[in-house]
Amino acid sequence: MTADLRLGERLMRRLDELARDTDEPGGITRLFLSPAHRAAMTRLRRWMEEAGLEVTEDAIGNLVGRVDNGGADATFILGSHIDSVRDAGRYDGGFGVLSALEVVDALRRAGTRLPFAIEVVAFGDEEGVRFPTTLSGSRALAGTFSPASLSARDPSGLALGEALRGFGCDIAAIAAIARDPAEICGYLESHIEQGPVLEAEGLALGVVTAIAGTSRFNVTLTGEAGHAGTVPMGRRKDALAGAAAMICAVEAQALAAAAVVATVGVIEALPGAINVIPAMARFSLDLRAPTDALRLGAVAAIEARMREIAAERGLGIEIAPLHEAKATACDPTLIEALSQALARQGHPIFQLPSGAGHDAMAMAALCPVVMLFARCEGGISHNPAEAMSVADADAATRVMLDFLVHYEPPARRERRARGAARQVPA
Ligand code: GLV
Ligand code: MN
Ligand code: MN
Repeated sequence: MTADLRLGERLMRRLDELARDTDEPGGITRLFLSPAHRAAMTRLRRWMEEAGLEVTEDAIGNLVGRVDNGGADATFILGSHIDSVRDAGRYDGGFGVLSALEVVDALRRAGTRLPFAIEVVAFGDEEGVRFPTTLSGSRALAGTFSPASLSARDPSGLALGEALRGFGCDIAAIAAIARDPAEICGYLESHIEQGPVLEAEGLALGVVTAIAGTSRFNVTLTGEAGHAGTVPMGRRKDALAGAAAMICAVEAQALAAAAVVATVGVIEALPGAINVIPAMARFSLDLRAPTDALRLGAVAAIEARMREIAAERGLGIEIAPLHEAKATACDPTLIEALSQALARQGHPIFQLPSGAGHDAMAMAALCPVVMLFARCEGGISHNPAEAMSVADADAATRVMLDFLVHYEPPARRERRARGAARQVPA
């Protein structure tokens, strides 16, 4: 007998279709507020409307599809992001949005009306690749978006506020999209694992317990330009050589501190000529750790070491913070409920932490959050080779469906408990 993978099959087909919305043909690059982001929103809006959702686009560029379920007073949010890194895979983010849509459509087809409203949200700025900000969409929903971010500029010099306006967003209305915590009862994000753990365990799915915290910086070094042929090695103030020493120090410090990861993903040197000693070097630093104490300790140690290197080399140094997200614990009640859904669907219960950042981190300021991870082939992500199977996509969708069908908003649970208590004879 062949397995019924209908939910996973359509989901994977749609992920292939979504992959066509790219700013750079030949791969997937879908930056926040770019033409490809707009194209993806248009595609997604059509699918949401076909699934019976009431669709709106909010002031920060989130696409929100809602099923009201008869005016229920609590709302459960499902979602993830549709922006991507440069030359991305097709599952990071899109999988969470489209699996949520499959769940809502399956409920509609079955005529199931749940005792709470459901929203499917496609966030636009999870990766933080275009602007030196990140999680703008989820932060705005959670009421923690900082208006100062509107002046952050992309590499072309365009401010986030201007780009939002160009995308059709009313930036004066951003504060008003913050949701009332009394109305939002929870957030579930499904995501490809982006790491090797589930595959190594031979498991399709796992429940996320916590998400590592992140600190991001831009480091700018100032040296002195000079002639590559005439300035003796001992008399140089080479900003790029200083950056190289710092990058090696960053790697060494992270290696020495268990569970800390640190990455320099962007570097530039000026004036950028083969025969000129670099006068300026700028590089990014992304540092993550499972606890805030570990992360802040590593940041302090790395910063001190970089300042020492700058002083040894006679370089100016500026370390500008770009982004900080605290380590986020998923909600114990939702972890248990999602674990029970795994078990009911015939999967072993497996729980794991996330090293990658997710919109769930920002949503945790609004409501209890939980995440479902799906197995990632070879643990490869942020890479066009990112892959997952139809069977795993299908399994994830069914677990989410099962979770929602059994989910009871806290207020309803409390009402039921109070009713039961009244019936207990004294
Ligand atoms: C997003 O994928 C991140 O963790 O940087
Ligand atoms: Mn992601
Ligand atoms: Mn990502």
